[in-house]
Amino acid sequence: MVGRKIRIGLLGLGTVGTGVATLLADQPAFALRRIVVRDRNKPREIDLSSYELTEDPMTIAVDPEIDVIVEVAGGIDPVYEVVKTAVQRGKHIVTANKELIARHGSELFALAQANNVAIFFEAAVGGGIPLISTLQRGLQANRIERVAGILNGTTNYILTKMEIEGLSFDAALKEAQDAGYAEADPSDDIEGRDVVYKIAILSSLAFQAPVNVEAIYRQGIGGVTDLDIRLAADFGYRIKMIGLAERRADGAIDVRVHPMLVPEHHPLAGVEGVNNAIFISGSAVGEVMLSGPGAGRLPTASAIVGDLINLASALQLPDFAAYFHPPIRSEVVPVSPIDDTISSYYIRLETLDTPGVIGNLGHAFGAHGVSLHSVTQKGVRADGAATIVLLTHRVRERNLQSALADIIAQPATLQIGLVLRSLE
Ligand code: NAP
Ligand code: HSE
Repeated sequence: MVGRKIRIGLLGLGTVGTGVATLLADQPAFALRRIVVRDRNKPREIDLSSYELTEDPMTIAVDPEIDVIVEVAGGIDPVYEVVKTAVQRGKHIVTANKELIARHGSELFALAQANNVAIFFEAAVGGGIPLISTLQRGLQANRIERVAGILNGTTNYILTKMEIEGLSFDAALKEAQDAGYAEADPSDDIEGRDVVYKIAILSSLAFQAPVNVEAIYRQGIGGVTDLDIRLAADFGYRIKMIGLAERRADGAIDVRVHPMLVPEHHPLAGVEGVNNAIFISGSAVGEVMLSGPGAGRLPTASAIVGDLINLASALQLPDFAAYFHPPIRSEVVPVSPIDDTISSYYIRLETLDTPGVIGNLGHAFGAHGVSLHSVTQKGVRADGAATIVLLTHRVRERNLQSALADIIAQPATLQIGLVLRSLE
């Protein structure tokens, strides 16, 4: 490849693929040889007259005149087979596909190593933020203890728009989709699967062992209402969707994804819109925070084309691929059960407005060792239901769940509206 253009097969020409094609037009070291789409008759935002378009993804994996596959289609089928075939044929991979890397990264990295090629995935986590390269290279001198932050642009955009502009959940989601931030199936964003894949990748790089994505506790933002956002603000918090991975003394890793109350003085509270922000705690460096656009056409394309330029430089060196191989062991590291985690909690309950309700709640919490910080009744609705909001002190999740099981069985309880953990 020395002395000639690097030939690219681009799988996907949606939000990210269009950004990649746009940025590559200014990169003379690369030639976009073939583009794969699902529907070649779909109108596109860029002029495709000088490109070869196909609907068969496998053609780029087997084309001997392609050096690198840029995979920005998403999902597992057919991408996994295409990537495997391409690697076996000696092609390098640059991908934005967090699900692919979270589910099959270990296997694909080993296959890449065996075939002396590299797999780059900077765009898979944190959009335009150089997060993967920071973990893989910039922080190599550290033992990483914790990685935590806002890892999904769509949900952060929705929560920000609901809070600041009073938009409804659906209207904010529609805006995020129109801007190209959301996944093809936006429930991946809203229900937290997107963050599960991302935190699984960060965890595997930070702790050098993969986690089983199915073992990661996940709560989405679908249950968060504008009332919760307002109440949280009254208590001095903002609600943020957080992914977190932390070493535990017993060798397991606490990895989870859920919305959290973030104190308004905390730096994550000020991260708005499509932006992401990630804290990394390292043994030598202390705490590092990286932030920037977590999704969107050009920020994501920036990460992909950055990977391509890294690859182009590395191609000048002999046996460079091993340098980019993430040092991840093959054995999966256990994820500690959510029941064992400790947090303070926000609980919104709907109850009948009858005498003794608050006393009975206090009794149920007390019986399970849950100490309350505050109890607030937020008015009574026309149908006689009352909204009661409780903040607890720090308590083990198992105790909280036992108390909530007792509370849901109380005759005055209509429903447990929302339970949120607090970041501090
Ligand atoms: P998108 O807008 O839905 O585009 C997907 C593209 O892939 C489309 O061009 C589609 O073809 C093509 N495609 C899908 N399945 C295909 C198949 N079986 N055969 C051929 N072509 C296929 O998605 P996106 O937002 O660009 O996201 C792409 C990937 O990047 C995903 O893994 C996503 O998680 C990741 N990512 C996205 C962002 C973001 O801000 N959007 C940021 C970081 C990472 P048609 O155009 O013909 O339908
Ligand atoms: N849907 C993802 C998000 C794209 O909103 O963060 C970036 O990975």
